[in-house]
Amino acid sequence: MVCLGNICRSPLAEGILKSKVPKEKFFIDSAGTASYHIGSPPDKRSIEVAKINGIDISNQRARAFNKNDFESFNIIYVMDSQNYIDIMSMCKSKEEEAKVKLILGDQNVPDPYYGNISDFKAVYSLLNKICEEISGELLNV
Ligand code: 4NP
Repeated sequence: MVCLGNICRSPLAEGILKSKVPKEKFFIDSAGTASYHIGSPPDKRSIEVAKINGIDISNQRARAFNKNDFESFNIIYVMDSQNYIDIMSMCKSKEEEAKVKLILGDQNVPDPYYGNISDFKAVYSLLNKICEEISGELLNV
């Protein structure tokens, strides 16, 4: 799960998808395309919205996406079209490019960083819905 800062959207996506699939079977992680927040916990508002929904993301720490991630992961979900451009520009092969997907397909997950708690709730709702679909695909339901 990839966004810009790895403190608002992708930590929520990581926590939500982890809550829907067995952890022995799937390794799910998140990262940012930017390095400003490396080592930071998720934004307080993401932690709060996750907590309201019974998910604890407070132990996550931001990291930057790196080229090894193309080998470590089968699917790389990005939150918006700028993330897509940034991650695609790091790819070294068609195989790597094929792993990168916009999580909502034709739509961006809006960046809530300069917004308020209701923007974070809207992001949660979008991510919860799509992660329900993704978990269905992963579990082959
Ligand atoms: P995220 O949100 O990409 O969902 O983690 C942002 C976090 C930090 C900044 C921008 C977006 N920032 O400019 O510091």
